[in-house]
Amino acid sequence: MTIAQLEPLPLQHLRRGKVREVYAVDADRLLLVATDRVSAFDVVMAEPIPYKGAVLTQITAWWLRHLERDVHHHMLSSNADEIIEAVPALTNHRSALVGRAMLCRRTDVFPIECVIRGYLSGSAWKEYSASGTLAGESLPPNLRESERLDPPLFSPATKAESGHDENITAARVAETVGPEVAAELERLSRLVYERGRAIAAERGIIIADTKFEFGRDRAGAITLIDEVLTPDSSRFWPAEHYQPGRSQPSFDKQPLRDYLDGERRAGRWNGDAPPPPLPDAVVRATSERYLDAYRRITGAALDLSELS
Ligand SMILES: Nc1ncnc2c1ncn2[C@@H]1O[C@H](COP(=O)(O)OP(=O)(O)OP(=O)(O)O)[C@@H](O)[C@H]1O
Ligand SMILES: [Mg+2]
Repeated sequence: MTIAQLEPLPLQHLRRGKVREVYAVDADRLLLVATDRVSAFDVVMAEPIPYKGAVLTQITAWWLRHLERDVHHHMLSSNADEIIEAVPALTNHRSALVGRAMLCRRTDVFPIECVIRGYLSGSAWKEYSASGTLAGESLPPNLRESERLDPPLFSPATKAESGHDENITAARVAETVGPEVAAELERLSRLVYERGRAIAAERGIIIADTKFEFGRDRAGAITLIDEVLTPDSSRFWPAEHYQPGRSQPSFDKQPLRDYLDGERRAGRWNGDAPPPPLPDAVVRATSERYLDAYRRITGAALDLSELS
């Protein structure tokens, strides 16, 4: 069984994202549950991708354990039995939690997407190739598409409630959250990204760019929240195919993107919801890629034995 629609949990449901369900446990804690839903070109597919939710949650958990000394983070547990012990109301829902649920410290979220880019790609490449700038600020000349950036670029965006996030300048961040918090968010984003980029590179994955979110916990501490250095919050590229001067294949979603591109070119899909049905082979290939990302980063296969 894979899960596109989760069974309802006996907690207050706060929000349904494209991929995750967010529940309130109490004033101090949240439960984040990653489903197997997948989106491409901003459209959520009808078919779940087996194991994807567990991969996302457990990659985040792995990074947070490795970043414990660098940054205060929101994870309390990503283990279903520990979560049930902490929240007895979930006792009869173990199978909906295994692998995919994370119990977290609840925070007041800073309304900033802390995007950090170690390679020039996506919307940043689009703006740079048109005007030589990123968020209006100039970059060195003659950079190629997908070129490595040293130091990485901090390129924050607003957290838009709907529609696309908008790039903003460092000055706007300082106006929004104050200069001290702004400086700390940039310092932590750089620190976590540089650690992550170096570790992933040794394991055959280039983390081209990523997005962090931070909040203030109930004790007042700036806290790393949300998902961390996952294929959904980052661009993952297979290092063995890296070649600057062109766009790079996506580590995880390439089979899906290629299939959807084909359907579009053939005139069978207009790019909006509803998406076309996915062949089993595309679903399986995508699932394999997510599992491979987990295996490469953590060095061990995800334990599938208890996953639903
Ligand atoms: N520790 C935390 N405290 C408070 N809010 C959190 C915490 N961790 C994550 N969040 C919030 O939970 C939400 C997670 O939702 P999710 O990422 O699934 O959807 P989304 O970002 O709203 O939309 P999208 O579908 O575009 O991703 C985000 O709004 C995030 O800011
Ligand atoms: Mg999100």
